[in-house]
Amino acid sequence: MTRTERSPLLIFGATGYTGRALVELACARGWPTHAHIRPASSRAQSAGARFESLGAALESVPWEADAIRDCVARLRPQVVFGLLGTTQKRAQAEGPGNDYAAVDVGMTQMAIDALAQLATETGRATGRATGSAPRFVYLSSLGAREGARGAYLRARVQVEAYLRAKAEASGIEFAIARPSFITGPDRDESRPGERITSVIADAGLGALAALGIRGPRDRYASMRGHELARALLEIGTRNEARDQVFEADALRALAATSEASFEA
Ligand SMILES: NC(=O)c1ccc[n+]([C@@H]2O[C@H](COP(=O)([O-])OP(=O)(O)OC[C@H]3O[C@@H](n4cnc5c(N)ncnc54)[C@H](OP(=O)(O)O)[C@@H]3O)[C@@H](O)[C@H]2O)c1
Repeated sequence: MTRTERSPLLIFGATGYTGRALVELACARGWPTHAHIRPASSRAQSAGARFESLGAALESVPWEADAIRDCVARLRPQVVFGLLGTTQKRAQAEGPGNDYAAVDVGMTQMAIDALAQLATETGRATGRATGSAPRFVYLSSLGAREGARGAYLRARVQVEAYLRAKAEASGIEFAIARPSFITGPDRDESRPGERITSVIADAGLGALAALGIRGPRDRYASMRGHELARALLEIGTRNEARDQVFEADALRALAATSEASFEA
């Protein structure tokens, strides 16, 4: 797979902070971009209108295995991005069937299954040898490692393991991103705790960097949605990103080297 190809990209979690930035970036760079929006999304209208104005195609498909599989089979995407996830607060507000197990794990696995099935049925998995197999890019998190504590990180560890196993069995490629906080003043949803923590941490990490100690900042400082989107597009489309895991410092470096033509 090379960046000169213009194969379809499909983005799950397109209505989120990271997803919206990725839709904007991919459209701006000329990729045929398909933005998945769940029919019940509170952002369906606002994000949908914005995406259409950018030239993205809207895929308003419910989170049901058959519907997701049909959507992926119809679009035959070269890269699928899994950028969705809930929070404990949202899960409580939305009620049963909207927790980490159902959303972060269950829905992401549904999307992985759909791509794996497409690859198997169309023989595209054989493309691994030539670098043309479809790729699933999973937005995981800093700290997602075996033995990680807490439901949030355990969900990410579970999905990472599932993706690796499915890739092995079906021949799809994967790439995993593990950023630190994803935040910025342009986030539409209020998350004061996350924002305050990241502003304080970023200040300390910036001070260390000013003293020449840059490692901790590169690894732990927050990223804005548009910065992360640049890195995600790179790991989705670069040959050498196949089957790799990208920690926050690597994502930051990729975002910096990515074409500087797009600005939020
Ligand atoms: N935020 C961070 O600091 C951070 C740090 C590291 C890793 N991550 C990972 O990155 C992911 C994306 O982060 P973000 O901040 O861009 O997310 P976000 O803005 O909260 O967006 C979440 C996405 O998930 C979808 N979603 C939420 N609840 C859902 C439900 N019940 N059913 C179906 N879809 C649902 C949302 O769709 P609707 O718009 O329809 O609700 C939206 O597209 C997180 O989930 C997490 O795994 C986040």
